[in-house]
Amino acid sequence: MSHKIIHNWRISKDEPITELDKKVLFFQNRGCLVPRRSLIKSREQIEGIRRSGIVNTGVLDLVAQEIKVGMSTAEIDRMVYDYTVSHGAIPAPLHYEGFPKSVCTSINEVVCHGIPSEREILKEGDIINVDVSTILDGYYSDASRMFILGTTSPEKEKLVRVTKECLEIGMEAAKPFGFVGDIGNAIQRHAEKNGFSVVRDLCGHGVGLAFHEEPEVLHFGRKGTGMLLVPGMVFTIEPMINMGDWRVLIDENDGWTVTSRDRLPSAQWEHTFLMTEKGLEILSY
Ligand code: MF3
Ligand code: CO
Repeated sequence: MSHKIIHNWRISKDEPITELDKKVLFFQNRGCLVPRRSLIKSREQIEGIRRSGIVNTGVLDLVAQEIKVGMSTAEIDRMVYDYTVSHGAIPAPLHYEGFPKSVCTSINEVVCHGIPSEREILKEGDIINVDVSTILDGYYSDASRMFILGTTSPEKEKLVRVTKECLEIGMEAAKPFGFVGDIGNAIQRHAEKNGFSVVRDLCGHGVGLAFHEEPEVLHFGRKGTGMLLVPGMVFTIEPMINMGDWRVLIDENDGWTVTSRDRLPSAQWEHTFLMTEKGLEILSY
């Protein structure tokens, strides 16, 4: 079998070869998928994404304070819009590929990309993912949290907890000069050990200069596969974990809402991370 090396990491003839170049070229020459240089953020870009992440986290802190039974998801949308704009930023979802609102609100069997609505009222026992993404001075950040309305069933509580653990375990598995596949492998093991399944159709992603960049961060798979993790890369990990089967459906009417096929509950947590020489640093949560 032939092995095609993708020469993503180019070195310019005019600039001296750095220690980083040598390290990445070592992996590239062994046939590993390595990032393009443009995925390695500069100091200035990292500061910009960090500032965007602070606003993004602020939005989620506000939602955490205000969310309650009886509130509509449209009210969450207004809160997100007002806070974001008053901090000089733009909600990234608004008009993104035609998405009509400023935030995704995904309740119970909705896996992700739920559209806020006046008619959708939060009730006791619901679990909801609120997924917030912010553009500040052109820099993107992206994070989501789960909220439990009042008390819910022990099964749904466990799903929310295990999904959060999946994100934390995925974060620990990500090492500089490790691989994206190490993250997915750790997440899949933890989800399945707990009797849950990992959604396959949606993944984490590079982020920072655009909403969705390379690499794709799968939440399942094998160690040592996928792209090499290099300090300076910024990306999300955002496992979607289903209580039942991993298969999903997209709503035919709105073209956005993703639900579990078996209509059993689903949960998701997401942070934006910077890869450093020591491991991941959280830029938004
Ligand atoms: N925030 C989602 C993510 O984590 C993307 C939502 S796209 C939207 O990548 F258009 F629905 F907002
Ligand atoms: Co994301």
